Amino acid sequence: MTPGASGTELGDISPDSFRRLLHEVADWIADYRENINDRPISPTAQPGAIIQALPRFAPEIGEPVEEIWRDVQELIVPGMVHWGHPQFMGYFGSTSTGPGVLAEMICAALNVNAMTWRTSPAATELETVVLEWLREWLGLPPSFAGVVYDTASISTMHALAAAREEAAGTVRKAGLAGRQLPLFRIYTSDQAHSSVEKAAIALGLGEENVRRVASDAQFRLATEALRLMIRHDVEKGFRPLAVVATVGTTSTASVDPVLEIAALCRSHDMWLHIDAAYGGGLALLPEASWVKDGWNEADSLVINPHKMLFVPFDFSALFVKDIARLRDVFSLVPEYLRGDSVGADINYMDYGVQLGRRFRALKAWMVWRAFGREGMAARIREHMRLARLFASWLETDSRFELLAPVTMGVVCFGIKNDLLSSEETTRSLVEQLNSTGKTYLTRTKLHGRDAIRLGLGNILTNEGHLRTVWQMILGYVSRAAN
Ligand SMILES: Cc1ncc(COP(=O)(O)O)c(C=O)c1O
Repeated sequence: MTPGASGTELGDISPDSFRRLLHEVADWIADYRENINDRPISPTAQPGAIIQALPRFAPEIGEPVEEIWRDVQELIVPGMVHWGHPQFMGYFGSTSTGPGVLAEMICAALNVNAMTWRTSPAATELETVVLEWLREWLGLPPSFAGVVYDTASISTMHALAAAREEAAGTVRKAGLAGRQLPLFRIYTSDQAHSSVEKAAIALGLGEENVRRVASDAQFRLATEALRLMIRHDVEKGFRPLAVVATVGTTSTASVDPVLEIAALCRSHDMWLHIDAAYGGGLALLPEASWVKDGWNEADSLVINPHKMLFVPFDFSALFVKDIARLRDVFSLVPEYLRGDSVGADINYMDYGVQLGRRFRALKAWMVWRAFGREGMAARIREHMRLARLFASWLETDSRFELLAPVTMGVVCFGIKNDLLSSEETTRSLVEQLNSTGKTYLTRTKLHGRDAIRLGLGNILTNEGHLRTVWQMILGYVSRAAN
């Protein structure tokens, strides 16, 4: 470091100490991955404990990175939930992988902004490359093109912004307020993700105008109920704007009947957005081609490769048929970027609200190259085998009940004994299991019924881990029944 005019040292930390710490951190990461099984999954600390343990005020004078690194290990890491633990079976696996960790480290070093082609040509072009790989894996025709965002919530919001512009013409220019526009309605199933309402809130369409359509016994949107709801709304003067169909719902991974929904969208001139945030990954399996039924009919589709496709969090891809429809809503080049934006085939800043953009493509490229489609398909197949195996254990024990079909790596189940199946007991079971630090499950409600939910998707999870969790569940239920 060099001294500045005020005597304070300038520049970065010394190359020597950076190199030394980098090796130390690299070893720590390798050990962390190798021995993650030995860690308790969740911390036992109460809310606020970590704030209490940390300095109240930001430092006036810089501190040695060695000390900060020690605090990371002693104060921060013990306060983490270890999502990468093979017995973490909550939500959807957001799996960590060697190539993914390496890519994130390289990205941190490069620290580029992928807003225009000129600000980072390779980041832009690699984004196009990985989106094309993904489009082909998903079986979407070339009329679809994609853009990478952080999350599915943001992808869905952008898709519905394009739908709104198409239906209302000039919202981009004139806004919504004070204009004679119809009241738009968006339809989605009672199993769909809350990101649909969030999008309606952000786009000024109104949370109440997201209509939740009943789902059938298998938790798929009931098309007849949708048809009736649309007819009723049209009679009342509402304007049907879009349907969000889900492929892999959050609770049970059910798949909506997209083909039937697409026909309704066509006849009412509605935008069809498919939320395949989780279930889209199944398209990599040739034997699961049923999952893609109707995708060609969609206007847009979101998939989160950070859920099933082994890319580290966060990475969400939105595909839009004739993506100029999205660009027309958001392309806006400020004067200071004019020079940087000309002459390029694509500037991804044109496809959304965000200007600055992370270089997310690198991690997808490294992970997907390292495993290949076949390797990923084999791993997904194994997760599905484990999910079916777990379901078979449940089915052969009269105390348990499978509460939803197992279509992907998700199993929802309940406990049959009336005494044990109340909401309170389900909560207490999940809390007790999770408090052991040896697993992490979640709860949900399915058509009013309390359910325990187990999600598989971690690349490190094997049958032994699943058996351990099953034995823990059996132990709890046996004790609770006595
Ligand atoms: C089906 C589905 N859609 C959308 C989302 C929202 O995802 P994100 O956290 O990427 O916004 C989720 C979250 O798990 C989901 O399960």
